[in-house]
Amino acid sequence: MSLLFKHLRVHQVFGANTDVGKTILTSALVRASAAAGKSVFYLKPVSTGDASSADVEHIKRYRGPFKDRIQADCLYQYQEPVSPHLAARLANGNDETQIPTDQTVVNSIAHHIRQCAAASPDPSHMYVETAGGVHSPTLSGTTQLDCYRPLFLSTILVGDSKLGGISSTISAYESLVLRGFLVDAILLFRDKYYRNWEYLKPYFADRGVHVSTVNAPPPLLPDTSQNHASTEEYYQSLLTEGDDNGILSSIEHLDACHKNRLDELQSMPRRTLDTIWWPFVQHSYYQTEQDVNVIDSAYSDFFTVVRESPSTSSILQPQFDGSASWWTQAFGHTQPALTLAAARASGRYGHVMFPRATHLPALQLAERLVKEGPGKGWASKAYFSDDGSTGMEIALKMALRAFTVREGKEFDDTQKTSLGILGLKGSYHGDTIGAMNACEEGVYTCEWHHAKGYWLDPPTVSMRQGKVVISVPSAIASETSDVQGDSLAWVYDVPARLDTPPARVYKEYVEKTLDTLRRKGQTLGALVLEPLVMGAGGMLFVDPLFQRVLVDVVRGPSSSSSSWSGLPVIFDEVFVGLYRIGMESTTSVLGVNPDISVNAKILTGGLLPLAVTLASNSIYEAFFSDKKADALLHGHSYTAHAMGCEVANEALRMIDGLSRSDAWKEARAQWKSEGDSVWSFWDPTFIETVSRVDNVAEVMTLGTVLAIKIRDDDAGYTSHSAETVFRPIDQYDDGGNEFSVAPGGAPFGVHFRTLGNVAYFMTSLNTSSAVLRSLEDRIWKTLQRHS
Ligand SMILES: Cc1ncc(COP(=O)(O)O)c(C=O)c1O
Ligand SMILES: *[C@@H]1O[C@H](CO)[C@@H](O)[C@H](O)[C@H]1NC(C)=O
Repeated sequence: MSLLFKHLRVHQVFGANTDVGKTILTSALVRASAAAGKSVFYLKPVSTGDASSADVEHIKRYRGPFKDRIQADCLYQYQEPVSPHLAARLANGNDETQIPTDQTVVNSIAHHIRQCAAASPDPSHMYVETAGGVHSPTLSGTTQLDCYRPLFLSTILVGDSKLGGISSTISAYESLVLRGFLVDAILLFRDKYYRNWEYLKPYFADRGVHVSTVNAPPPLLPDTSQNHASTEEYYQSLLTEGDDNGILSSIEHLDACHKNRLDELQSMPRRTLDTIWWPFVQHSYYQTEQDVNVIDSAYSDFFTVVRESPSTSSILQPQFDGSASWWTQAFGHTQPALTLAAARASGRYGHVMFPRATHLPALQLAERLVKEGPGKGWASKAYFSDDGSTGMEIALKMALRAFTVREGKEFDDTQKTSLGILGLKGSYHGDTIGAMNACEEGVYTCEWHHAKGYWLDPPTVSMRQGKVVISVPSAIASETSDVQGDSLAWVYDVPARLDTPPARVYKEYVEKTLDTLRRKGQTLGALVLEPLVMGAGGMLFVDPLFQRVLVDVVRGPSSSSSSWSGLPVIFDEVFVGLYRIGMESTTSVLGVNPDISVNAKILTGGLLPLAVTLASNSIYEAFFSDKKADALLHGHSYTAHAMGCEVANEALRMIDGLSRSDAWKEARAQWKSEGDSVWSFWDPTFIETVSRVDNVAEVMTLGTVLAIKIRDDDAGYTSHSAETVFRPIDQYDDGGNEFSVAPGGAPFGVHFRTLGNVAYFMTSLNTSSAVLRSLEDRIWKTLQRHS
C-alpha cells in the first residue's frame, strides 16, 4: 500500500518511452541527492538484459565520490533483453505459475522500501526506476501504471527529447494522471536539435507541472575507459551551480513537494474541523484532530489513511473499507476500467441536458436495465436521477399518481396529501424529506418530517447459537415467538413456503391490518419495500415469505395480470440490488415483480452518483395524456449524466463477468447454492461459530453483507455497544505474518460502521478470499477479547 515517510523521500521514475534517458537522469538525481548530503537508495524492481550492463550497474559505476552514501538494488533480473513480461516467460519455459504475480512484485518492492526506511533514520532519498514506458508490461503482463498503482509513490516523469517526444511525453503524463499519480516533476534533456523542452516547459507550466531540463549526455565513445571518463565528467558537471542547472533545482523542487505533501496531510484534520460539517456526525463527540480519518488515496478494498507511526515507518497505512464506502463499491476503489469509462464520456459529452434528448450511454443503460437487468420481464421505462433518495422520490411520485389515476375518481387536495404509504417498521429510503415521509418516525428525521402511512412489524431472519431462526413479532403471533428454520436455503425458498401455516398467519395479519386502516379512513397509495434486507434500519433481514405475502395481499386476487391492481408496489433496491446481497434483483427470491423499482449505489460500481427508477408500462401510462400538467414534471440538473451512465454500463459488464467467475462459484459452493438460492461471500462455518459467541445476540449474512448484533439491553440506533466491541479491529495488525493481505503487504486496520448494537462488514463483489479470511480472523479475535 501507499508508502510515505517523513525522513525518506521516495520517488518512482517513469519514462515517456523506453530509451529516453531514464537511467541517466535517475543516476544524475541519485548523485545530486548524495551531493546534498543525503543517503540515497536506488531500486530497479525489474530489469531485463545482461546483468553486467544493467541499470543498477550503471548507477553503481557512477556513484563518483559518494560511494558510501548510495545503495543500489535490483529485485528481479531476467537475462533476455526484451520486455519483462516476455523475458519472464522465456526464463520460465512459458510456465505462468513460475512468474511472480503483481502482488508479489508490489509486496517485495514495498518490503524493500520499508527496509531502506528503517535502515536510515536520517533524511534520505530514494528513486525507484521503472522499465520502459509508463504502459510497458511488468512480469505478469499488467502494465506498470496499473501494477505499481497500489504503492502510490510520488512520481517523476522522464520526458522524451527525441522526434515525436512531445506527444509521447504528454500522453504518458495523461496516463499517469488518469490513475491518480502525483507527478511532481517532468525531467528531460535539453536536446539542441529537436528542442522539445522549449515546447513542453510552457505547456506544462500552464498545467501547474514543474519541468526541469538537463544537458544531454556526451556521445558514446567506442573506447570503454574513455567512455567511462567522459560519462563521469558529465555527471560531475551536472552538480555545478548554474542558472539552468535542472538537476540541482529538481532536488530542491522534489524536497519541497515532499514537504508540502507532509504538511498538507498534517494540517488537514484541523482545517477539516474548521470548515467541514460531516453527515451523520455529532460534532461535539469529535473535536480533536485524531478524530479525523485523513484518506490520502484508496486502492482496491482499502483506504490509505494517515496514522501516527514510529519515526522510520510510513505515515500512511491501509485501512479496509468495511462499509464498501456506504454500500457503493462493487470492485473496490480506483478501477482503471471505470476511470477510463468516466473519462471517455467526459471527453465525448461532458454533461448534456436530457429532456427530449438521447445519447448512447443513457440509452444503452436504459435498455440493459429494462430488458436484461433488474427490470427484465416487467419494466418498460427507465427514469434517471442522481442518488437513491431522489430515485425513491420519483418512485413515490409515480406510484401515487398511478394510484389516483387508477382509482378513477377525483381526489381533492386534502385526500391527495393524506395518501399513505404501506411499509415496514425499520425501513429507510433516504434523507430527502419526501423519502423520509415514506418511513416510520425514527432517528433519521427532521422538523418537517411527517411520516405518512402505516408500518407493519415484520418477522426477521437470523442465526443464533448455530440455528436459523425466524423471529415473529407479537403483532403477528399473539406473543413474540421464534420459529426455527431448517437452513437459510429453506427460509429463502419462498415458493415452497407459500402454502404453509406461517404464510396463512402472515396473510391474516396483513389483511386484518389493512381492514382496520380502511375502517379508520386511511387511504393507502402504495406499498414501499426494501426487499429482503432493511439496511439503515439496522441490517434487518426480513422473512422473505412475509414480504411476498404482503405484495400478494395488496395486489388482490388479480395479481397475475400484467397491469397492477390494488396498490402499486415499489421495491427500493438501492441497497440490496445488483448483487450486494448475492442476487441481481430480489424478484428472483420473492417470486414477484414490483411495478416500480429503484437502483443506485452499486449501479456505477461505486464511482459516480446515479440512480434509476424503473417503471412498468401501466405506471408510465398514468402520466400519458394530452395535457402537459399530467407529465412527470420532475428533473435534476444532472439527470442521466453521460459519465454516470457510461460508467454504469461498464460496471454492469464487469459485474456480469464476476457473476460467472470461479471466485463466485467457490463462494456459492460453500453455501451449496444453486440457481436462485441464497449464498454469501462469508464462510458458513465462520458465521455459525460467531452465532455461538456469548456476547453475540445474532448474526446474519447474504452476499457481501455480514451483520453482527451485539447483546445489549439498551439497543437501538443510539446504542454504542457494537462500536465499543469492534473498536480494536481498527488497530494495525499483520496477523503475525511477514506480509498481510493488504496491497503492499502492510499491516492494516479495519474501518467499519455500526447501526446501534449492530456492526456490519461489507465487501465489494470482488474482494479476494484471502482478504475475506483475514477479516473473519480479525472479527473472531476481536469478539474473543470481549467474551
Ligand atoms: C434502501 C435505501 N434506499 C435509499 C437510500 C438513499 O440513497 P442515497 O444515499 O444514494 O440518497 C439508501 C441509502 O443508504 C438506502 O439504503
Ligand atoms: C477482481 O480482482 C482481480 C484481482 O484480485 C483483478 O485481476 C480483476 O481485474 C478484478 N475484477 C474486477 C471486475 O474488478
